[in-house]
Amino acid sequence: GSVPVSLNINGSEIHTTLEPRVTLLDALRENLQMPGTKKGCDHGQCGACTVHINGRRVNSCLTFAIMHQGDKITTIEGLAQDGKLHPVQAAFVEHDGFQCGYCTPGQIMSAVALLKEPVGKDDDSVREFMSGNICRCGAYTNIVAAVQAARQ
Ligand code: FES
Repeated sequence: GSVPVSLNINGSEIHTTLEPRVTLLDALRENLQMPGTKKGCDHGQCGACTVHINGRRVNSCLTFAIMHQGDKITTIEGLAQDGKLHPVQAAFVEHDGFQCGYCTPGQIMSAVALLKEPVGKDDDSVREFMSGNICRCGAYTNIVAAVQAARQ
């Protein structure tokens, strides 16, 4: 059965009830009406479901929502502030860092995490850090360009 769960998402404390076995990804998309986080593979291989938990990247399909009471969860819906895109979002628009757009929220969440990590300045280091985020359209050249622009 469902149990009461409190989650801090994008700065808001949300009280809901969830079955203990519901993944964070399904909780966001199905229970909390936050569909910005995407489901690609549902088993940790594509990165479409990337969110931040306490500032670090996590594949939300691989963890249970109930485990994250007391954590600070950030989703793609929480990046833009005061009606302004996050600089990484703006860079993806500027550099056409997508084609179909399905992987984009996960790509952007990874790229935002990259800004805080000691990642080498070269394109290969960006590719390595972003290698968990798959783009079926193959928009990698523009994705790397967008990430590099956002680091300036
Ligand atoms: Fe989570 Fe693919 S949906 S990694």
